Amino acid sequence: MYTDIKTILSDAAEKNYAVIATSAINMETARGIITAAAEKNAPVIFLLGQNMMRVHAKAELMIPMIRRLAEYANVPVATCLDHGNDPERLMYAFRNGFSSIMYDGSLLPLEGNIRETRHWAETCHTFGMGIEGELGHVGNAAAGDDANEAAYTNASDAAMFARETGVDCLAVAVGTAHGEYPKGLIPHINFDRIRECKEATGGMPLALHGGSGAGDENIVRAVQAGINKINVVTDVFSACRASLLEDLSANPKIGYIDLMSRMEMAAKHFISHWIDLSGSEGKASGFREKNRIYLLSKKESVGDSE
Ligand code: 13P
Repeated sequence: MYTDIKTILSDAAEKNYAVIATSAINMETARGIITAAAEKNAPVIFLLGQNMMRVHAKAELMIPMIRRLAEYANVPVATCLDHGNDPERLMYAFRNGFSSIMYDGSLLPLEGNIRETRHWAETCHTFGMGIEGELGHVGNAAAGDDANEAAYTNASDAAMFARETGVDCLAVAVGTAHGEYPKGLIPHINFDRIRECKEATGGMPLALHGGSGAGDENIVRAVQAGINKINVVTDVFSACRASLLEDLSANPKIGYIDLMSRMEMAAKHFISHWIDLSGSEGKASGFREKNRIYLLSKKESVGDSE
């Protein structure tokens, strides 16, 4: 089921769980992620970043493949251009079948962020796509930005941002950061700030970026506080890399197909664990039920007119 983040995340917000949003740059990782989602009967979101697509994972190839896998999986699957702020890349996402975008105006002053995000929200909604915005700024883990409370999301600004932009989901800065944290560091997440943003925005779906290395207990508590989308990228790539390294070290003559299959399994195991943390296991059934009702009612109305 190929869908958009609005459809997926409004269900998550209503039922208080989160959906895993992660990345793949090749078939094996994509299939490992979708297999995990299918086995856990969970929705899942694929993120493709501007640079990731520029240097390697071209949307022309990735999006049709993800859509094809989504057809087989029978769980809701969305795609999302991650941290889009280059109009050329945003238009590229529109042309290439993304179902959603994340517009990142988090480094702009508040008014500029609202103005630009609203513009892209209107464009997305015209084309039936979902959109996420970011308020506050989720920085870089290696630079220690997770602890920069000045960049955390302010709840009353969040209320205004949600109201004035029309986004479907809001990324909040609450104590995590992108990439690898310094060795041994588990970030401190401000759970009260998550609850405040949730309340101020009237229950809007909230996204937590920088999931990698944030600690299992933190993730579970963040979901309980109101997070509905968990971005985790660095660690799924690390799991794939570790699998390759381990297999090649143990057996340098390992066959290429075997090597790739084992990497796919590593991605699958990693995502299965994160689905467990997110509370999204089993949640795809609700979507199938809604879809079935829609199909039945369409069929009935055809019958009525005959
Ligand atoms: P990590 O790579 O730190 O998991 O962050 C991913 C992310 O937030 C992508 O937007």
